[in-house]
Amino acid sequence: MTKVGIDAINFYTSDFYLNLEELAKERGVDSDKFKIGIGQERMSFPSPDEDIVTMAANAAYPIVQNCDKSKISTIMLATETGVDQSKAASIFVHELLGMPSTTRAVELKQACYSGTAGVQMACALVERNPEEQVLLIMSDIAKYDLDSPGEPTQGCGAVAILISANPSILELSPKTGIHTESSHDFWRPNYRQTPVVDGKYSTLVYIKAAKKAFAQLTEKSGVAFDEIDNFCYHLPFSTMGVKAHLKVAKSAKTEKPKEELLKQLDPILIYNKEIGNSYTASIYIALCSLLDNSETDLTGQKVALFSFGSGCVGEFFYGTVVEGYKEKLHTEAHKAQLLNRTELSFSEYLRFYQFKLPQDGSTFQLEHETRGMFRLAEIKDHYRVYSKCER
Ligand code: CAA
Repeated sequence: MTKVGIDAINFYTSDFYLNLEELAKERGVDSDKFKIGIGQERMSFPSPDEDIVTMAANAAYPIVQNCDKSKISTIMLATETGVDQSKAASIFVHELLGMPSTTRAVELKQACYSGTAGVQMACALVERNPEEQVLLIMSDIAKYDLDSPGEPTQGCGAVAILISANPSILELSPKTGIHTESSHDFWRPNYRQTPVVDGKYSTLVYIKAAKKAFAQLTEKSGVAFDEIDNFCYHLPFSTMGVKAHLKVAKSAKTEKPKEELLKQLDPILIYNKEIGNSYTASIYIALCSLLDNSETDLTGQKVALFSFGSGCVGEFFYGTVVEGYKEKLHTEAHKAQLLNRTELSFSEYLRFYQFKLPQDGSTFQLEHETRGMFRLAEIKDHYRVYSKCER
């Protein structure tokens, strides 16, 4: 069987962030609730001229620069925050990246989970034609109502992944565990910009799905909890991953002490605490965080990943880290991007939050605010005009 998995991975987030201490002050909340209770320190927030398309193109650009575009058979873009009810966001990205017309483009949806459906589909496509590659992008803006419990769990980001045969970073096992069950924990009717969410219930749905999916993964693969060196979780906020990990460990009957289990998660939380939730991208930003920040060489180690989308679908799958993986990472660029972001004041955050594009088809030029290479420049005749900026 062909070895298939992740050959390249890169993430992008907005250049702007709100410090959660500032949010706590404005909302009259003890800042430790955000820092310790939900485990978040800052949240990336997009400027009006950024959206899931610009973030996706920015995440994918360094990858396509370093590969043979003609080998990429498909671009899949997974998102909860689509910009059009009909046209796939991946077609905009296809154009911005200068992809050949022979590359197919499609958009995927299932709350925060769909990127992982994309991973499985991409692996199957590569298995069919091992000389081809699939560019998979997860891109989202997590936006909740102002002054709601979800407000401190906002964020935004995109991750681009190249799936190929004989991958350089993570070889993925075809054995996975899945839990699908209809639930109304978080959903977004077409007429709403923000989700309807029962936050407490959603954490219970998440944990149930994680335990069920892990049990099935073990049953199908024969791989036990203690044989897995690293765990990555979808992170709507950091303590969600921590709670789920302890519950999964308990139901898998490991004898590992709690301190060891908590330590296992340290490297995956680093970027999330800075960026916040990024829905589909979140679990893969956690993977970048692990690969970039782990103190040990991960070569040969197993990494299990739990992907979750409210509504709900959860999937636990795993891979093995490939020798030489560090050379393919974008560690310095990731760290530099987070370090060089601009802090928003609370009133600037509100301006970004409240900005609305015209909905009557009138022409509107956006102020240039992002420092990213790709930006939304104009709206006219009901369509979006993107531009590439020279740096
Ligand atoms: N110091 C330290 N800790 C404190 C504290 C303080 N001063 N004040 C409160 N805390 C702790 C609380 O004890 C609580 O801890 P536990 O969870 O261990 O009990 C934690 O901080 C949070 O406090 P609350 O439960 O009072 O918080 P809340 O009611 O304001 O809401 C939330 C928390 C439900 C997560 C809310 O932020 C929310 O609805 N978020 C959006 C939904 C979400 O992210 N759901 C997650 C699963 S769904 C999913 O994964 C899909 C997706 O991406 C959305």
